[in-house]
Amino acid sequence: MSAVRGEFSSRFGFIMAAAGSAVGLGNIWGFPTQTASNGGAAFLIAYLILAFCLAYPALMAELTIGRHGQANAVSSLRKISNSSSQKRFAFIVGFGGIICAGLILSFYAIVAGWMISATIEPIATLAGSETASTWLSEQSLSRNLIFTAGFIILTVAIISRGVENGIEKWSKRLMPALLSILFALIVYVMLQEGAMTGLKAYLVPDFKSILDPELLVSALGQAFFSLSLGTSVMIIYGSYISKKENLVSLGAYVTLIDVFIAFVAGLLIIPAMYVAQAQGVEIFSANGKLLSEDTLVFQVLPALFDGMGMMGLFVAFAFFALMSIAALTSSISMLEAPVSYAVERFALGRVTATWLIGIIIMLISFSIVLNLETLFGLVVSLTTKFGQPILGLMCCLFVGWIWYRNSLLNEIKQGCPDVANSLFWKIWPWYIKFICPIAIGLVFISSLLG
Ligand code: PFF
Repeated sequence: MSAVRGEFSSRFGFIMAAAGSAVGLGNIWGFPTQTASNGGAAFLIAYLILAFCLAYPALMAELTIGRHGQANAVSSLRKISNSSSQKRFAFIVGFGGIICAGLILSFYAIVAGWMISATIEPIATLAGSETASTWLSEQSLSRNLIFTAGFIILTVAIISRGVENGIEKWSKRLMPALLSILFALIVYVMLQEGAMTGLKAYLVPDFKSILDPELLVSALGQAFFSLSLGTSVMIIYGSYISKKENLVSLGAYVTLIDVFIAFVAGLLIIPAMYVAQAQGVEIFSANGKLLSEDTLVFQVLPALFDGMGMMGLFVAFAFFALMSIAALTSSISMLEAPVSYAVERFALGRVTATWLIGIIIMLISFSIVLNLETLFGLVVSLTTKFGQPILGLMCCLFVGWIWYRNSLLNEIKQGCPDVANSLFWKIWPWYIKFICPIAIGLVFISSLLG
C-alpha cells in the first residue's frame, strides 16, 4: 500500500499544509473574539500556556500515531493496539474523529461561504451593481446555499488532486498570501485613531482573571480547535510525513505558526474593534464584554471599512479574501480525513471518494442552512465542545497507555536520533500518560458544568 500512498514532498510542504489546517477562521475570527470577550491579555496568556503545554503534546501524540501507522486514522490506531478490544476502541476513536472532521466541515463551509460572498461584495459595489451587492451582503437562503456549495466544491477540487499536487501545492501558495494580507491590514489599522487603546487592552493583562475557570475552559477549547485536534486530521497528516523527518520539531513549528498567527490576528482585530468604537459603533457592553460574538465580522469590520470610503472596498476585499484562504487550507484537511479512510478501506479511487464524501457533506451543510437557528449551534457544540476534547483525550490515552513504550520511542527517534538528550524526551511520555488526560478531562468536565 505504501507505494501508492501520497507523501509530503518537502519539510516546508508539510509545515505549510499542517499549519494551513491549524490556521483558519478559529485564529482570525475565533481567537480575537474570545480574547475580547474574556478580558483581553489575561486570555492571551492563558491561551499561550495551554497551547504549548497541553495542545502541543496532544498534537505530537496524533502526528506520531499517524507517522507510525502510515495509513488512515483507523488503521494507524489499530496498528498500535494489542488486543481485540483495543482494536475495537481504535475503530471508535479513529472513525469518531473522521465523523467529527466531516461535521466540522459541514458548518465551517457555511461560514466560509459567508466569507467568500463578503469577498465578492466589494467587487459588485465597484462594478456599480447595487442588486448584486445587496444580495451578497444580506443573509438569504439562496446566497447561503450557493456559497456553501461553492466552497465545498473548491475543497473537493483540491483534495481530489491528492497530497502533493493538491494539499501541499495549494497550502504552499495560500499560506504566504494569507500572511502578506494580514500584515498589510495591521499596518493600516495601527495608523487609525483608537488603535493604541485596543493594543493596550490586548497586551496588558489583568493577572487576577487568569485562573478564572471559565477563561481556562475557553482557552483550552480554542487551542484544541485551532490545532485541529481530536478529528483524525493530524493523524492523517502525520501519516504523510517521511520517516526521515524530525517529528518533534515539525510539531513545534506547526504549533508556533498557529499561535503566532492567532496572536497577530489579535493585533489586527482587537485594535480594529477600538477603532470602530472610536467611530461610534457600539462594541462593548457596560461590563466590558462584547455585545455579540458576531459583532466582529458583521459590525466592527463593515463599520471600519465603510469609514474608509473608496479605499474601504479594497481593504474589505483583502480582509475577506484572507478569511476565505484561511478557511480553505483548513477545510481541505477536514475533507482529507474521511477521504483517506474511504480510499484505503474500500479501495475507492481518490476522485470518486472525494466527490462522494463531498456530496454527503454538502447535504449535511444544506440541512444546517435550512435550519440555521437550531442546527448550527447544535453541530458546533457537538463537535467542538464534546467531540474534539473526548477524541483528543482518547488519542493521548492510546499513546500513553496502549502503545508499547519502546515502539513509541523508536518512532520518535526516526529522523531525530539526538532526541534522547532533549527535554522533550524526558517530559513528554509523562505528559501524555498523566498530565494531558487529566487536564483535558478536568477542563471537559468543567465545561459541562459551566
Ligand atoms: N484549526 C481550524 C481553525 O482554527 O479554524 C479549524 C479546524 C480544522 C478544526 C481542522 C478541526 C479540523 F479538523
